[in-house]
Amino acid sequence: MYFSDLQTIKLSNLKMFHSKMTLPTLKQQCDKGSKMSFQNPVFIPGPTNIPEHLRKACDMPTLDHRSPLFGQILHPARNSVRKILKSGSAHVFIFPASGTGGWETALTNTLSPGDTVLAARNGMFSHRWIDMCGRHSLNVKVVETPWGEGISAQKYAEILAQDKSHSIKAVLVTHNETATGVTSDIAAIRHAMDAVEHPALLFVDGVSSIASIDFRFDEWGVDVAVTGSQKGFMLPAGLAIVGISDKAMDVTKTATLPRTFFDVHDMAKGYANNAYPYTPAVGLMNGLNQACDMLLAEGLDNVFARHHRIAQGVRNAVEAWGMELCASDPSVYSDTVSAIKTPANFNATDIVTLAAEKYGVAFGVGLGEVSGKVFRVGHLGSLTDVMALSGIATAEMCMKDLGLPIELGSGVAAAQQYYRNHSMIEQKVAAE
Ligand SMILES: Cc1ncc(COP(=O)(O)O)c(C=O)c1O
Repeated sequence: MYFSDLQTIKLSNLKMFHSKMTLPTLKQQCDKGSKMSFQNPVFIPGPTNIPEHLRKACDMPTLDHRSPLFGQILHPARNSVRKILKSGSAHVFIFPASGTGGWETALTNTLSPGDTVLAARNGMFSHRWIDMCGRHSLNVKVVETPWGEGISAQKYAEILAQDKSHSIKAVLVTHNETATGVTSDIAAIRHAMDAVEHPALLFVDGVSSIASIDFRFDEWGVDVAVTGSQKGFMLPAGLAIVGISDKAMDVTKTATLPRTFFDVHDMAKGYANNAYPYTPAVGLMNGLNQACDMLLAEGLDNVFARHHRIAQGVRNAVEAWGMELCASDPSVYSDTVSAIKTPANFNATDIVTLAAEKYGVAFGVGLGEVSGKVFRVGHLGSLTDVMALSGIATAEMCMKDLGLPIELGSGVAAAQQYYRNHSMIEQKVAAE
């Protein structure tokens, strides 16, 4: 959908954030002489900015989703996702859903009521996946982890070592906890599982990591990887993307949790006939196909390096402001989102509200335990150094407006300095 079409869907009726503000129509924005907020990049940690090319790819004429033509979108998209997962053999399933549907796919296809799973809670998204396990009659061994810390491979190793009867059927890990800006070490978790020869399946939530941060399905022995279309893939929300190992596919044959919409066997039967067991989101799938082409043409190493560089500029800005990240130490800093702590007695959400209302720019609010204590800058997907600088500048203006002791330009200068010395062009390696 193009910007000019937006008015036709009565955007002015939609509530924005938690405030009473409604999205202005294009005409209202022009009348007020304000900048059009839709021209600003977003800095929420997904959905991300959508490249024009992908927006056009999603906006396509209807085609018969039961015709061989659809297969020309479906199969290349699945093959390309497999490459992005760095897998030679993962079974890739794409549902008209969001990341949450991917979680449900992982659980319901591989587990049975009463099964035990191991999971760590270190933020809102890991919490929600744990909550979903409970609602599906699973028994969850929860490793409570301070919000801001990574998932401890050591703790997982201890618990798995004690589980001599192998009652734990799956180990859940949120690769990148979007609520706190923390990336956990999946290779270390795999190592912990192997060290005690535990046969549990390894499920990884890669919703805010896959296609942005290095992810190695085969090398890390991932059994189910879950992501969505609206983050690293730079598309609108609407696709749950799931990779499943041969080992986990075998388990799906005996798992008894009820499933219908997310049943991978129904889906696989459909795929064999270039089809779905229901109506697929064809435009989004076309977008996914082209998003993968864009990512692979850039080269995954370049994509990861770009995310790292942009993130580091943001982190340098935070340091220049004299502020701290929610993430406890550099080894867990996320290259896709920074959750920035604000001083005690200051409501961090005010920054997000002001940015939206005064400058037409979207940042992320703090969620759950860190609500009001952090604001989040998403720096993933379609983003350049120059776009990131505008977000840093906006955050500075908001904090200054709200009375925080921020020197205008300090964060921008720190990021500029970093970007000048770590040029995107120089960093590029040949695409694979
Ligand atoms: C790490 C993580 N997992 C899961 C989800 C849930 O995905 P969705 O909102 O697409 O259902 C999100 C959403 O932001 C996320 O960041």
